[in-house]
Amino acid sequence: MDFVKKELENAESGHDWWHIRRVYNMAKHIAKKENYDNVAVDLGALLHDIADAKFHNGDEEIGSQRAAAFLQSQNVKKPLIQEVGNIVKHISFKGGNHQVSYSSRALEIVQDADRLDAIGAIGIARAFSYGGYKNRKIYDPEIRPQLGMSKEEYRKNKAPTINHFYEKLLLLKDKMNTASAKEIAEQRHQFMQQFLTQFYAEWELV
Ligand code: ADP
Ligand code: NI
Repeated sequence: MDFVKKELENAESGHDWWHIRRVYNMAKHIAKKENYDNVAVDLGALLHDIADAKFHNGDEEIGSQRAAAFLQSQNVKKPLIQEVGNIVKHISFKGGNHQVSYSSRALEIVQDADRLDAIGAIGIARAFSYGGYKNRKIYDPEIRPQLGMSKEEYRKNKAPTINHFYEKLLLLKDKMNTASAKEIAEQRHQFMQQFLTQFYAEWELV
């Protein structure tokens, strides 16, 4: 396990080590509460962002391939490699409109942990950090949020960061798989709404 952490500390994958650490801790927390503490959850959380399709010409197999190669080098047994590979491959949101083609308890838990890291105070910080990185405006009242985007539209979207709250972040609360994550999401969701209320009040000086 320590070896995986070291490996990832040096790997540049677009998501930093601290995100992985938070997701790993959260996945373990949820797994414990759900009585599903297991090594697939641990490895799935640690490896879920090992390679992002966004930076590999949209190649959605790249993450699971990298994870599998790494686990093979550690002599991990095949069924576990496959399970972890499936978690890595199916975790991402990608606009959220496509059909889910794989499901497992471990995937549900890691996905919840990853989604929880996209909401609340940290979610807000990450959204504006991403928006800055992409040179996006923080807000533009004339550009309305777009719901129901296709995978392609979601990827190409250049809208202000506030729109991302409506296109993704505020929708995540209802997408949680486990009861434990729903509970945490509820509080983080409320905090984001509070943030938006304050944001608009400052914007309009009311
Ligand atoms: P994932 O693939 O795990 O759903 P991403 O890699 O797309 O997430 O995003 C990483 C972080 O950047 C998340 O916190 C997410 O909310 C944020 N982010 C992604 N797209 C946007 C966007 N268009 N505007 C602002 N933040 C974004
Ligand atoms: Ni992630």
